[in-house]
Amino acid sequence: MTSVPALKLTSGAEIPQLGLGTARVPDEEIRRIVAEAIGLGYRLIDTAAKYENELGVGQGIADSGVPREDLFVTTKLRGADQGYGPTLQAIDDSRERLGLDYLDLYLIHWPLPRLDRYVDSWRAMEEAVALGKVRAIGVSNFLPEHLDRLAAETTTVPAVNQIEIHPHLPQRELIAENTRRGIVTESWSPLANANDLLKAPELTEIAAAHGCSVVQVVLAWHLRQGLVVIPKASHPDRLRQNLDALGVQLTDEDVDRIATLDTGTRAGGQDPATHEEF
Ligand SMILES: NC(=O)c1ccc[n+]([C@@H]2O[C@H](COP(=O)([O-])OP(=O)(O)OC[C@H]3O[C@@H](n4cnc5c(N)ncnc54)[C@H](OP(=O)(O)O)[C@@H]3O)[C@@H](O)[C@H]2O)c1
Repeated sequence: MTSVPALKLTSGAEIPQLGLGTARVPDEEIRRIVAEAIGLGYRLIDTAAKYENELGVGQGIADSGVPREDLFVTTKLRGADQGYGPTLQAIDDSRERLGLDYLDLYLIHWPLPRLDRYVDSWRAMEEAVALGKVRAIGVSNFLPEHLDRLAAETTTVPAVNQIEIHPHLPQRELIAENTRRGIVTESWSPLANANDLLKAPELTEIAAAHGCSVVQVVLAWHLRQGLVVIPKASHPDRLRQNLDALGVQLTDEDVDRIATLDTGTRAGGQDPATHEEF
């Protein structure tokens, strides 16, 4: 079984560098996928209240039979639950749906700056850590101005900032900004949700040279940068293939070629400064 390297978080915990994404997959299907993925060696599972599949994710975890302490489970606060009291309640609700006493990582899903509630949510998340309900807290889709506000008004540095990253949107500046603050960067839609990116001839040629798939080239590109990566896949052969990307070593020349694919394009067009979802 492939063993996944881990990165140290500010909380002291370790996060596996490659895990499973679960967006847009309903309960019954994700139950099967999560159990299969854990059986193959995945230990990091990423879900969110917004995905409405925490129940299925929790069932898949239970089906896997792997001890709780060997797994790293992330879920996220949906926009509708921002604010101090609603956030404390949302954490309990997620724990209950997942069937878990504690969450390894809890993220604010989107900053929703117009609401101006993410600082209150953060204070509730600090409280949940003190109560032992959550091991580490972090953010998602936060821009430097949002990180600045948390730094100015609260005491805990986010363990993670989960942001959209793929070769069309390499986000070098935001990664550097996270690193400067001690925040681990996690890539969402790391394959650009399997859009045209995967047809780029540059990637096909690099893959042929390494005798691997295009998807493995893209995942290796994330891993080489020290990013945590959470591709979503539905079939065991893809789950295995994605895990095996840990064995692909890109050259500096490959990385330079991949840099030419930067178009600044967001796969789903969601700009964190303005995107709202509840
Ligand atoms: N924080 C946020 O705001 C946010 C936003 C979006 C996503 N996320 C997280 O990030 C995770 C990943 O992002 P994503 O699901 O949007 O997209 P993604 O992981 O970039 O791409 C998923 C797509 O790639 C395909 N795929 C996976 N492995 C493959 C392989 N080896 N060969 C060919 N195709 C392959 C999948 O197909 P099949 O499924 O058909 O196998 C699926 O269509 C999500 O699931 C979620 O957990 C977070």
